[in-house]
Amino acid sequence: MSYTPNPKRYSYNNFKRCGDSGLDLPQITLGLWHNFGGKIIKSESKKMIFRAFDRGVTHFDLANNYGPPYGSAESNFGKIISHELKKYRDEILVSTKAGYDMWPGPYGEWGSKKYITASLDQSLNRMKLDYVDIFYSHRFDPNTPLEETADALHRAVHQGKALYIGISSYSSKQTIKMNKLLKQRGIKCLIHQPSYSMINRWIEKDLLKTLKKLGIGCIAFSPLAQGMLSDKYIKKIPTTSRANENSSLSPKLITKSYKEKIINLKKIASKRNQTISQMALSWILRHQEVTSALIGARTIKQLDECLDSLNNLNFTKKELKSIDKFAKEEDINLWSASSKN
Ligand SMILES: NC(=O)c1ccc[n+]([C@@H]2O[C@H](COP(=O)([O-])OP(=O)(O)OC[C@H]3O[C@@H](n4cnc5c(N)ncnc54)[C@H](OP(=O)(O)O)[C@@H]3O)[C@@H](O)[C@H]2O)c1
Repeated sequence: MSYTPNPKRYSYNNFKRCGDSGLDLPQITLGLWHNFGGKIIKSESKKMIFRAFDRGVTHFDLANNYGPPYGSAESNFGKIISHELKKYRDEILVSTKAGYDMWPGPYGEWGSKKYITASLDQSLNRMKLDYVDIFYSHRFDPNTPLEETADALHRAVHQGKALYIGISSYSSKQTIKMNKLLKQRGIKCLIHQPSYSMINRWIEKDLLKTLKKLGIGCIAFSPLAQGMLSDKYIKKIPTTSRANENSSLSPKLITKSYKEKIINLKKIASKRNQTISQMALSWILRHQEVTSALIGARTIKQLDECLDSLNNLNFTKKELKSIDKFAKEEDINLWSASSKN
């Protein structure tokens, strides 16, 4: 597929500074967890990468185990970044992570230096890259000294295999600790990647304040609660939807209490001339500390709808108050174990 990027891709002015670093991120980042795996990337998914770049999305988020099968999202992305997007490598941020299960045995997951070092090498191989822009510890490992994980992350930067370091789903307490350990090693913790959405608000308790104090940016993942923050599930579970795929979104989460929230949030969004999904993204970005909303998308139509949320980022106090009545926790945080410590 030949590709020429939109020459007006930087006219959207959608960038935000990441904490107190020198790096700007697009306010919407495209994640490749779902829809980008397989032996051959789906044509719609490949087009989504181009469409995103055409609309000023300069940041693509991956992890070692995105697929299925594990590694295939990186391999598929590697074919594109080394071919159609090769010329634009210096305009693009590529993120990857290590932490969850990737290969069998004791060195195939968690936070040891052995695993993290090998995993980054494998990711670079799959993506045909010399370095990634952001490398994350994907989850907190309660059974490995944090010093060892910090050593592994430092090594990645020292060897030029990663430019910046991030952590994902760490509690406020462990974020403070990791930030200190990285500082002692002469590197900065650039960014934290937590789950956050209108129905999963755990970071508001103390993590956001910690990030602000430490000058660490925040990229919020699953800001649409895996698609629950849309109106698609109000009537029934559509055949083509994540809740019907027997993957990461259990249909059991589509409850009566959840639907009531969505019906009410939809009314508020309509008054703002937004869809629920658009309002959910604008709402995430209302925090100064949230640098980027890390979305997934199945189609170009969904991606475009999400990117159009940037046309209306302001909320009145009245709107925020009425959203608060319905933006309440559902039990959807699959990643909570990592931030318990
Ligand atoms: N650090 C971590 O541990 C971690 C964990 C999870 C995810 N992530 C990152 O975060 C990224 C995003 O996660 P996510 O896919 O769960 O994010 P999400 O944006 O909350 O959910 C994406 C899903 O929402 C639906 N959707 C998207 N746009 C829509 C629209 N305009 N209207 C209606 N539905 C829409 C689609 O669902 P359907 O497929 O049903 O159409 C899409 O697959 C991942 O790709 C990954 O990079 C990181």
